[in-house]
Amino acid sequence: MTTSFLLWNDENIQKASEWLKQGEVVAFPTETVYGLGADATNEAAIGKIFKAKGRPSDNPLIVHLSDVEQMSRYVTEITPIAKQLIEAFMPGPLTVILKSNGKIAKNVTAGLDTVGLRIPDHLAARELIKACDLPIAAPSANLSGKPSPTSAVHVYQDLKDKIMAILDGGPTGVGVESTVVDCTGDHAVILRPGGITKQDIEHVLQAPVEDATILETKDKPKSPGMKYTHYEPEVPMILIDGDDDYFRTQINQYQSEGKKVGLLVSEELARRSQADTVMTVGTREDIATVANQLYHALRSFKKTDVDVILAETFNEDGVGQAVMNRMRKAATYIDIEDKSK
Ligand code: TXA
Ligand code: MG
Repeated sequence: MTTSFLLWNDENIQKASEWLKQGEVVAFPTETVYGLGADATNEAAIGKIFKAKGRPSDNPLIVHLSDVEQMSRYVTEITPIAKQLIEAFMPGPLTVILKSNGKIAKNVTAGLDTVGLRIPDHLAARELIKACDLPIAAPSANLSGKPSPTSAVHVYQDLKDKIMAILDGGPTGVGVESTVVDCTGDHAVILRPGGITKQDIEHVLQAPVEDATILETKDKPKSPGMKYTHYEPEVPMILIDGDDDYFRTQINQYQSEGKKVGLLVSEELARRSQADTVMTVGTREDIATVANQLYHALRSFKKTDVDVILAETFNEDGVGQAVMNRMRKAATYIDIEDKSK
């Protein structure tokens, strides 16, 4: 099939909505990253998402809704903590996990009795969901394992001719995915850090919040998606955890081995380093811009001839936690400076 590129206007919202109702797959913008949407009540339509992405079938999808009223149609109960978080952060980059009432297709939830739900803070997304009046299941609109798309062009690069259409609403704002929070119990558990921070959530709930991703290692991960390779650029990436001098020593080391080195770094470090290709993601203090630029930078190395990417470790304040979570997953390994030397 030839993928249609749809600019965001009333006529194209109608067109995309008709395709969704007919069980086709349409990519659309959200405030975090582009999503790959299909009718969450239509098992065959959902099957097309998994096929286009090459996504493992045991990794559940998030269901996107246009308002809270629509959300309550698909769960057994909106728990008290979910109510508080919904009121504080939706629409916004937050996904709540609640008990499903069984109306969402089994392949959306990968057979779990829970479902992830969110209301995106992007008008194009909500107009589209409202127009078709369906719950729209949507993973990030990238090939499985690749960085999430933050523009319609990124979606096209990955999924050209595999999906019906791409609704182009411009580049996304947040740049990393939503925070996934298990709200089924009486305390909140973060299953994936994202656009809403742990501190934001603790502030609203007035209680400490568990972050399950900190222990994310050998045990079966709570959020099935967290066990797969993720966000990988086309070239091996090494995350350097050390000071600026150590970083420059590593650049020299690779270059002395005859390797072409690409950097994924702050403006501060770029200014003081020499390499073959440099992708900056903003300044160290401005972690929101780092989040916004990260996936674009990861994708950009594909067009270069570098042999290795050396990436900077950013501070984990606020959305920095999500940034570093994604960078660790994208990295082939982490090179930690031995400070005892
Ligand atoms: O910002 C976002 O969340 C983007 C945009 C498009 O909305 N979507 C997104 O979807 O990142 P995806 O499929 O790439 O990631 C969904 C994450 C996975 O880690 C998945 O395992 C988790 O949410 N998830 C979904 N349903 C779940 C459930 N019932 N229980 C636990 N984790 C769940
Ligand atoms: Mg994804």
